[in-house]
Amino acid sequence: MKNKIALLTASAAFTLTTASAQDAVDFEKQILPILKESCFKCHEKEKEENGKIKKPKGGLRLDSAEAIMKGGKDYPNENVVAGKPDASWLLKTMALPESDEMAMPPEGKGDRVSAENQALVKKWIESGASFGSWKGVE
Ligand code: HEC
Repeated sequence: MKNKIALLTASAAFTLTTASAQDAVDFEKQILPILKESCFKCHEKEKEENGKIKKPKGGLRLDSAEAIMKGGKDYPNENVVAGKPDASWLLKTMALPESDEMAMPPEGKGDRVSAENQALVKKWIESGASFGSWKGVE
């Protein structure tokens, strides 16, 4: 019986440690995969596909740190506003209901970003939107 209690305590301590280790959001490990999965298709550097030039939609690229901060044609410098998730269109567009014309990905063009992943993006922006050593595509 004593052993069992010791084990339980150890596992509770372990849970606490992992939770605090998650406090700092790692862009490359936690945010980039979300953008890759849901956004890159339309927001990458200009490329050729089947002989056609494909430009980033809305003039917004999400494949480099510089481009993410620069933003697109309608909301320059407001794609990610460090410390201000409510002013950051990257997050706002994800959070809009699918029927909204600015919802991202656009209606019928991909799954909504999960609430859990939106919360991660929010936390990343709130905590200063650091890219670490990630620079992305030039
Ligand atoms: C299927 C294509 C597609 C996907 C996938 C997509 N977008 Fe877009 N995005 C667009 C189009 C088209 C526009 C331009 C809309 C307009 O100008 O009316 C746009 C515009 C934007 C803008 C506004 C840029 C500006 O300043 O004008 C933001 C922010 C944005 N997208 C974020 C995202 C995010 C974040 C994701 C992933 C969760 C995403 N998009 C996924 C097609 C897409």
